[in-house]
Amino acid sequence: MKSILEFSRAQREAQPIVMLTAYDALMARLVAASEADAILVGDSAAMVVHGFPSTIHATVEMMQAHVAAVRRGAPEIVVVADLPFLSVRRGKVAATDAAGALMQAGATAVKIEGVAGHDDVIAHLVESGIPVMGHLGLTPQSVHQLGGYRMQGRDPEAASRLRSEAGRLEELGAFAFVLECVPAALAAEITAERRIPSIGIGAGAGTAGQVLVCSDLLGLDPRFQPRFARRYLEGDELVREAINRFARDVRAAQFPSPQEVLA
Ligand code: KIV
Repeated sequence: MKSILEFSRAQREAQPIVMLTAYDALMARLVAASEADAILVGDSAAMVVHGFPSTIHATVEMMQAHVAAVRRGAPEIVVVADLPFLSVRRGKVAATDAAGALMQAGATAVKIEGVAGHDDVIAHLVESGIPVMGHLGLTPQSVHQLGGYRMQGRDPEAASRLRSEAGRLEELGAFAFVLECVPAALAAEITAERRIPSIGIGAGAGTAGQVLVCSDLLGLDPRFQPRFARRYLEGDELVREAINRFARDVRAAQFPSPQEVLA
């Protein structure tokens, strides 16, 4: 997809939207050359790339560098960039500066976790011409308040709160929203109630699209294998084996070969 307008077209035509994270130019190029629709420069970069224990460690500067690298690798595809921890909680001016920095780095849109207490910021960004994707359910920037990475919306009160938050996002002009770790039946109901598409992760098959973290899809981290994230490659084993072959070749004086020696 080249524009956010294609999200609503896909929803109207019941075409599932496919989004994948990327944090660097190499992965962005691979995603852009694939059948996926859009790239998410998630603040999961703080964990996947930088090795932090949570997304709380992502900063605007960190996200800006990843967005710029992704955009250099994928000049045309829709790139959604996460506004990191607290960046939307310091008032409209700070949030607009942060969103502006990500847009100038090459993002097509920004993603914002939650809605309560910063709906004015969402409305202001939309009115300023910045497309906003919401993020409801398990919002990892609030992991400590949520008491861990747990399924959300299980009891009737929490389910009804999620429903109204999705409605509020639509009213505020968000073009889509991520639904993370929400019971499948609830996610399907919320999706059916909304005119903007939901992109699910751990939210069952009834959302308008799906998003995965690239290292989960590629099976690159054996320490992290959530049940909802299908591994399409045993990347960890494959990469380790390739490195081991290189090490063995060097030690056996099999690398470089005469053909690989520059004259
Ligand atoms: O940061 C991220 O990768 C995300 C996805 C899990 C949706 O927000």
